[in-house]
Amino acid sequence: MVKLSETAIEILKARYLRPGETPQELFERVARAVSEAELLYGPASQAARWEEEFLKVMENLEFLPNSPTLMNAGTPLGQLAACFVLPVEDSIEEIFASVSLMAKIQKTGGGTGFSFSRLRPKGDTVKSTNGKASGPVSFMKVFNCATDAIKQGGKRRGANMGVLSVNHPDVKEFITCKTDGKSFQNFNISVACTDDFFQKALKGGEIELINPRDGKVWSRVKADELLDLIAESAWKTGDPGILYIDEINRHNPTPALGRIEATNPCGEVPLLPYEECNLGSINLSKIVEKGRINWEKLERLVKVAVRFLDCVIDVNRYPHPEIEKMAKGNRKIGLGVMGWAELLIELEIPYDSEEAVELAERLMGFINRKAFEASAELAKQKGSFPNIDKSVYRGKTLRNATRTSIAPTGTISMIAGTTPSIEPLFAVGYVKRVLGGRRVPFIEPLLMKKVKELSLQQLKEILESGTLQRAEGIPEKIKRIFKTAHEIAPEWHLKIQAAFQKHTDNAVSKTVNLPKSATPEDIKEIFITGYKLKLKGVTVFREGSKEGVVEFKVDQE
Ligand code: CDP
Repeated sequence: MVKLSETAIEILKARYLRPGETPQELFERVARAVSEAELLYGPASQAARWEEEFLKVMENLEFLPNSPTLMNAGTPLGQLAACFVLPVEDSIEEIFASVSLMAKIQKTGGGTGFSFSRLRPKGDTVKSTNGKASGPVSFMKVFNCATDAIKQGGKRRGANMGVLSVNHPDVKEFITCKTDGKSFQNFNISVACTDDFFQKALKGGEIELINPRDGKVWSRVKADELLDLIAESAWKTGDPGILYIDEINRHNPTPALGRIEATNPCGEVPLLPYEECNLGSINLSKIVEKGRINWEKLERLVKVAVRFLDCVIDVNRYPHPEIEKMAKGNRKIGLGVMGWAELLIELEIPYDSEEAVELAERLMGFINRKAFEASAELAKQKGSFPNIDKSVYRGKTLRNATRTSIAPTGTISMIAGTTPSIEPLFAVGYVKRVLGGRRVPFIEPLLMKKVKELSLQQLKEILESGTLQRAEGIPEKIKRIFKTAHEIAPEWHLKIQAAFQKHTDNAVSKTVNLPKSATPEDIKEIFITGYKLKLKGVTVFREGSKEGVVEFKVDQE
């Protein structure tokens, strides 16, 4: 039987349980629906065996799939994936077809990413009407409004990623389109930056802004100035983030099928147009036993999780035939982790330490390797992904074009009762306002487990500041392992992200937190460091700036 916290039960009741369903029945529904995929490949006894395995790992909160799977598996809706990228081509018909498909996906809890780079720039000619084009930012408003309207009916607010190439003539308007703090609240935005752009930003040089309609140079701009503008906007509101688009394409497993131009809303899955990806995460707090990592248990969990996510592809109900074709052709899955901060605390390793960076590499390296092995093993039983001969895995036997991806786990980490994704603790204590305006103090249970008791004075300090650093009488060692997101220097956020990225097929969704006093120059440095560390994307969040970026992750309503 599943044991859940009060918060977890509240979340499930509000949005995940079917009428009259208990949490236990939810996990049973999901295990049954997903394991039905096994019937396509083997006898009923095989499906029954996997149903049991899937149920066990979810009940134990050792592994959870992304929210749409929990919400929709075994229901008439049946759409199970969290991440989509849709094409936006340069015609009114195609733009609105994309809006329509977006609406259909968001109704099911899926998030959508778009590259607007193919749209002709503002002021360019429109032949059929003899008029002037309104440009990508203007069309993004249509997507944003549509998401607003769907929000009221759906189970969670819709999330979008808007991407524009750094070489698009409207790039400046795009970079600043959220700086008023009001516009495009349903979008995270990212600039797709090339190696050439960073090289020129570092050495001094201009990049060409090119009209995608005819390939002609529209104007030129100093790369360094553009990077300054990105940093300044991100300093104000957290947006835009950066996509290191060439690094992303160096790891594109199916380059013959096209170049990747965009990611899903939180950035962890770069995808081709019409591709989707379903995600799931292993709860790392469950693999620590008596102060040590149980590697055999982790290996077992990876195997079950890969099989689970692969099954999802077969039982999923797709919102569009083209999406089904891409999903079943590449069979991408995204296995990630949650509870990294909890694991570190249990092992008494500070987040901002070389030891943590080394462990991140070892751990994710292990998961990535085992996921690859599990996918190869599955291919022997069920066949390789159909596009394998058009992929970098040509000649191999492999079931999934990508296996790993690190999602924010905004909601599922709360259901599992652990820390989200690979993020550090956000606060060790705070005063929560609950329904009716009552104020309830909250102290991080992981802290209480380590310190056993706190004096009234210490409690007061912690609740007021959210951190341990000013509380007197707390041992240095404890203060060191309970540093919160804003107290950890940006370079350590980046180092941990890079350590995980090195062993992740897709990308890592991570926020680099900054204190209020950080400058645009600091942010520029972070973007350059991200490039040097071979990250696929970087998002920053400065304390006190607008909430835009984290909003989707906290997923509150
Ligand atoms: O924890 P949960 O499975 O609910 O989701 P997550 O790991 O926080 O986010 C994973 C992905 O789900 C995001 O990158 C989005 O693609 C999508 N998502 C969404 O569409 N709408 C939200 N409100 C939250 C997430």
